[in-house]
Amino acid sequence: MSNITNFNKIKEAEALHYMPVFSRNNLALEYGKGNCVYDINGNKYVDFVAGIATNILGYDHPEYTQAVCDQVHKLMHVSNHYYTAVQSEYLTALCNASGLSRVFLCNSGAEANECAIKLARRYFKNNGGPKRILTSSGAFHGRTIATLTATDNSNQHRVYSPLPDGFDSFEYNDFDDFKSKLTDDVGAVFLETIQGERGVRPFSNDFIVNAYALCKSKGVLFIVDEIQTGMGRTGKLFSYEHFGIKPDIVTLAKGIAGGIPMGACLASEEVGTAFALGDHGSTFGGNALACAAANKVLDILLDGLLDSSAEVGKYFGERLAHFSKYHFITDIRGIGLMRGIQLDDKVPAAAFEGKLKERGYLVNVAGNNTLRLIPPLTITAEEIDGLIDALDDICASTNV
Ligand SMILES: Cc1ncc(COP(=O)(O)O)c(C=O)c1O
Repeated sequence: MSNITNFNKIKEAEALHYMPVFSRNNLALEYGKGNCVYDINGNKYVDFVAGIATNILGYDHPEYTQAVCDQVHKLMHVSNHYYTAVQSEYLTALCNASGLSRVFLCNSGAEANECAIKLARRYFKNNGGPKRILTSSGAFHGRTIATLTATDNSNQHRVYSPLPDGFDSFEYNDFDDFKSKLTDDVGAVFLETIQGERGVRPFSNDFIVNAYALCKSKGVLFIVDEIQTGMGRTGKLFSYEHFGIKPDIVTLAKGIAGGIPMGACLASEEVGTAFALGDHGSTFGGNALACAAANKVLDILLDGLLDSSAEVGKYFGERLAHFSKYHFITDIRGIGLMRGIQLDDKVPAAAFEGKLKERGYLVNVAGNNTLRLIPPLTITAEEIDGLIDALDDICASTNV
């Protein structure tokens, strides 16, 4: 069977059998190596999508692959009825790295946020609640019913109503609005320091520092969704470190286990002990395979990758700054290896995505016409140079 027929067969089966929720790129990928993926026709692409900020070690990283294979042979899953050494090792390592002392392990970002919402509500109940949770306009926290409610998407809110009560929102990056919404019935603030799905929109340093200080002064919990920004993507292990703050609850997923499904909800000792026995749980959460993968990811990060990726991320920012000379590029945002290029409405970002694909680079579109660049943390300066040259060529031949 030719690869073309193969591709059509893959698409046909999808069209027939998968629930129609994803709009896919016209590409069937077969394997990955280093920071590149290869399609079923053997074409190579340098990957600036990384499974949506997830494959932080790229593909087939030797130490990581070895650790995962070893664990597959040893023990993959036993449920939370039993202890495993590999899970306890990970809990200790994650707490040491974050400065928080309690963790719940799960399987995705939405689950980590669901846990954060439940934990906050349990904490409110224990302290005379119920209270409300304040989220930001433009936020994305997941697609379960509670995390969708915390997400800013009026169309989905309408489709999936009735939604749970207990959430209000403030205007992204508007401290006056935030202050006015932080009324006495609010018990927690929940935000991403950089809104990834909305096109890499960072909150200002002043906003985060002042919002955090105000929350602390009022005894309001500060919850940071680090699902996209976490595990080194911004040049620090957690993006909240850029602001010198210590959130009460932090959620992680995506890159945490390098591509094996895993999420985590971390909390301070006071908040993280609010749950009672049986209040929360997960069959797969924290299974041995995911923990072995996550242990290796954290080891590799702390053993030099965090520092080297911070340097490469800085270099990426310097190279991207040069694109401000194009009048149709209206903003270049982000930090480290989480970058967004905002294009004028007259220049569809999807067309740029397609042209970069033809030149062997995968990027994706997020938010409102933003090209999002979220490569593996192992990306090299040479691979960045290649993308920059390709993008420069495309920009130079764009007439608007
Ligand atoms: C900031 C943020 N929170 C939550 C999620 C949801 O994660 P998942 O798709 O693993 O449920 C995402 C996914 O893109 C995200 O970017």
